[in-house]
Amino acid sequence: MMLDRLYGLARPMLFLLPPEDAHEATLKSLERGLFPRSAAGVRREIATTAFGLDFPNPLGIAAGFDKDARVPDAVLGMGCGFAEIGTVTPLPQLGNPKPRVFRLVADRGLVNRLGFNNGGHAAALFRLERRPRHGIVGVNIGANKDTEDRAADYVRGLEAFNGVASYFTVNISSPNTPGLRDLQAPSALDGLLGRIMTAREGLVARGGPRRPVVVKIAPDIAEDDLPAIVGRLVANAVDGIAVSNTTLSRHGLACPEARESGGLSGRPLFERSTIVLARVHALTAGRIPLIGIGGIDSGETALAKIEAGATLIQLYTGLVYEGAGLIPRITGHLADAVHRAGASSISALVGRNAPTWAARTLPG
Ligand SMILES: Cc1cc2nc3c(=O)[nH]c(=O)nc-3n(C[C@H](O)[C@H](O)[C@H](O)COP(=O)(O)O)c2cc1C
Repeated sequence: MMLDRLYGLARPMLFLLPPEDAHEATLKSLERGLFPRSAAGVRREIATTAFGLDFPNPLGIAAGFDKDARVPDAVLGMGCGFAEIGTVTPLPQLGNPKPRVFRLVADRGLVNRLGFNNGGHAAALFRLERRPRHGIVGVNIGANKDTEDRAADYVRGLEAFNGVASYFTVNISSPNTPGLRDLQAPSALDGLLGRIMTAREGLVARGGPRRPVVVKIAPDIAEDDLPAIVGRLVANAVDGIAVSNTTLSRHGLACPEARESGGLSGRPLFERSTIVLARVHALTAGRIPLIGIGGIDSGETALAKIEAGATLIQLYTGLVYEGAGLIPRITGHLADAVHRAGASSISALVGRNAPTWAARTLPG
């Protein structure tokens, strides 16, 4: 396709730049409106509903691509069914020293240890309040590195963005903020989610909208801990679970950059994150919508995530290697799969291979 050929020409030049500079160049061109518009329009067979929201298609761009809400409308314009901005923290943060993003080209992966670099709540809110209110834009919220009370930072996120967020993602799974993943412990989850859900009720009591709350988990949760963690998420009535963030595993990599510390994303994450997704699908008996993330870089891998249990899917690293042409390729492939299955909606395909995926052995 035309777009794929264009990216085939642009990619070698972008890859001459350090990854973060290439990303900044991409964001700048999106801000200027230089991006391929998707002509696909809404295709009814891949439209879907999750936590009370109607998505034109199930594919979104994952958190970290647009940390500061600079380009949500470009993301939607390129054919995504939704955008997720963030992670945003209450106060601006520089993150870790550079270099802190590494391409593993032969492995089709990235390692990042950004550490929640972002401009803080106020800057992102300013942008979101000025955009036209159409399309689904989720806000991924986190805690400042040096905060004394992490839960309070998430509550501040909820309160700050409740007017503009279509949904919230509570990010407790970044490996790059020391101690953050401890919030995934079952006992810690009750405390955190209790405060978040109480804050949400407070917002509703004051006449605000009730926004869905999704919790994003790591793919590295010990197998034995997963049932208890999912149990606490269900008990606290979260609206969705996002599976997964990046992994600390370095299983089966060829590139020397694998030695860099940080979270690994892209193709090497696909297997692990899809197995964990299917297990969460089994543990929730398919009753809670799941966002499948990790290593989607083709129509086939996108479909596999849905068949493993994802109602919605997101990607980031695949875009770095494939370019924006990947978006219509995926939505087209999903629409074809619905037709091939003789179904009328993509929702008929959700979880149909979950038992097979859940039974696989985790790599590494
Ligand atoms: C450079 C980079 C920055 C990221 N920043 C965030 C972030 O701020 N918050 C978050 O929840 N996930 C973040 N992620 C994780 C992605 O949202 C996603 O869960 C992960 O990369 C797996 O998807 P992928 O294999 O399609 O990239 C980041 C990933 C990358 C590569």
